[in-house]
Amino acid sequence: MVVPKVKLGSQGFEVSAQGLGCMGMSTFYGPPKAEDEMISLIHYAVSKGITFLDTSDFYGPHTNELLLGKALKGIRDKVQLATKFGISFAGGVRDIRGDPAYVRASCEGSLKRLDVDCIDLYFQHRIDTKVPIEVTIGEMKKLVEEGKVKYIGLSEASASTIRRAHAVHPITAVEIEWSLWSRDVEEEIIPTCRELGIGIVPYSPLGRGFFSSGAKLVESLANNDYRKSFPRFTGENLEKNKIIFENISAFASSKGCTPGQLALAWVQHQGNDVAPIPGTTKIKNFEENIGALSVKLTSEEMKELEAIVSSGGVHGDRYADMDFTWMKSETPPLSSWKGI
Ligand code: ATR
Repeated sequence: MVVPKVKLGSQGFEVSAQGLGCMGMSTFYGPPKAEDEMISLIHYAVSKGITFLDTSDFYGPHTNELLLGKALKGIRDKVQLATKFGISFAGGVRDIRGDPAYVRASCEGSLKRLDVDCIDLYFQHRIDTKVPIEVTIGEMKKLVEEGKVKYIGLSEASASTIRRAHAVHPITAVEIEWSLWSRDVEEEIIPTCRELGIGIVPYSPLGRGFFSSGAKLVESLANNDYRKSFPRFTGENLEKNKIIFENISAFASSKGCTPGQLALAWVQHQGNDVAPIPGTTKIKNFEENIGALSVKLTSEEMKELEAIVSSGGVHGDRYADMDFTWMKSETPPLSSWKGI
């Protein structure tokens, strides 16, 4: 199939309608995967038309960008490259930073590791609530003016933070968790993006693999898999959430697709300003995910699907610590900024 393209934002940035989340290739989801296999997977994805690649300097830290740097050799002009800054891990301690010196140093580091002249889409990964968003975006704007970054984005930002940021420099995309079981963003964040003409990059569109494999996924996780700490994947919550997978699976059978494809198709159907980034480390799974682009859902089917997921409720927060999400992403007023 020919993978359609979508425009993110109002500045002319065009990406494949489905991207590839690269995080799990290096970190968080069990041990790092074999580098040569991941490079082959990235090349395969690009050859099939999935050209929008997502990474971050936090993944590893740094190893995922280094992997991408190797994978991009010879194919740089075929891909739309997104990376992120904002979560520092200096001395093994996690900190959120958006001060200008950090923004600049992070960008320089990413350019070096990715071995590119320019980052297509540069996201602030998490919002630094100590720094007015205008200050962070002001520095990102300079990076655009210097040609180091083409477009800028925010990840896990609230509607008011997005609005303030967009007033300083056009925001091209907002990356946010959006899937059949993470729909709180529909209340304010998605409408704000649409009002301002900002594209949306849904991460974890497969519910971190739950919609593909259900509770089996959780049973098979390696000890160091980050998902083991996620409330939705533990104890009683998992027991209750199992029904979601069962219901989606039954619906998928009636559509002649897999549950993962159905969940992904639901996100793909949200609009032509949306480019989800399912993550995978396997060609077989990649094939299944790209197949979701061929699954067509009517608006009645969309509603039916939403109803069967919400009927029993979704049990457990997205993260063990919700302080690192858009819910806690308000920044101080610009007038209060004294620098650091
Ligand atoms: P994230 O954005 O956090 O990467 P996601 O895209 O919702 O989350 O889901 C990624 C997870 O789904 C990964 O664990 C991935 O495992 P593999 O690397 O083994 O593929 C899993 N996943 C992705 N596509 C899948 C598929 N088609 N079948 C089974 N698991 C899949």
